[in-house]
Amino acid sequence: DWTMAAYRDEKIAQIREQVGSAKVICGLSGGVDSSVAAVLIHEAIGDQLTCVFVDTGLLRKDEAKQVTTLFREHYNIPLIHVDASKEFLGELAGQSDPETKRKTIGRVFIEVFDREANMIEGAEFLAQGTLYPDVIESVSSSSGKAHVIKSHHNVGGLPDYMKLKLVEPLRELFKDEVRALGRELGLTDAFVGRHPFPGPGLAIRIPGEITPEAVETLQQADAIYLEEIRNAGLYDDIWQAFAVLLPVKTVGVMGDARTYEKVLALRAVSSTDGMTADFYQFPWDMLGRTATRIINEVRGVNRVVYDVTSKPPGTIEWE
Ligand code: XMP
Repeated sequence: DWTMAAYRDEKIAQIREQVGSAKVICGLSGGVDSSVAAVLIHEAIGDQLTCVFVDTGLLRKDEAKQVTTLFREHYNIPLIHVDASKEFLGELAGQSDPETKRKTIGRVFIEVFDREANMIEGAEFLAQGTLYPDVIESVSSSSGKAHVIKSHHNVGGLPDYMKLKLVEPLRELFKDEVRALGRELGLTDAFVGRHPFPGPGLAIRIPGEITPEAVETLQQADAIYLEEIRNAGLYDDIWQAFAVLLPVKTVGVMGDARTYEKVLALRAVSSTDGMTADFYQFPWDMLGRTATRIINEVRGVNRVVYDVTSKPPGTIEWE
């Protein structure tokens, strides 16, 4: 696509002009936006860029590994992978209120990121994958739902990285345009087509208290659900699909024995921008197959339900 190629060249020129010979730090979340921003900036300024990937331990199954492999091995982009999962889970212990969970994650994220960013000597710029809708949202709402690094500016004083000047090459783009730019930069369709993923990650898909066991159960169930969706060829039709591990136990039977395990809810919606959404109408046999697999393969779940709420009145996430 010549338009996107021209756009890419224009952005590369702009980044070079803005940054000069200075060092840039990019906060990688594991998602599409920050990845596209990082690859674009790396094309512009090469090893003046260092990426910092704060791994909250709350990503989808295997996602942290995919991101580090992509950056280190495929693109050869300097990447610091900070495994902060213990820190995040420790700080979240005992918390069940959704907004408190979000605030905690935002605060810990900033602490960890700040610590790492401070070790990169002489950095002058912070790169972010801010999109146009994020820009609009941060002006027009206080929902606190923009990406953590973009939104928690007022927790306990100004973090050091906030003193850095911003590089935000995706500020004019919508999600579909970011995906097109990502393809232009050589990212695979499978990578750029990944569903959006919230900054607080799986923490807001485990209503109530989060434990390491609950995170693992959810990761396993979610991976099976996504695999079934891909096998059915439906992944790209769906805006977001994910599992939610409910803090509710119900009775079941397994062989001769009675079980008492958790309920898992499956969610999938179609949408163009996440602002409104319709629940996705799967074929029943696909849902049935997924439920059977999850109950057979994932310990701690004995019932699966499907969420048929659209937005509004529901939100996409459960918290
Ligand atoms: P809701 O649940 O409000 O979500 O319908 C709309 C879109 O925003 C994502 N979302 C978040 N993204 N931090 C984020 O970065 C958050 O706290 C957050 N909460 C929701 C959600 O996944 C959907 O794409």
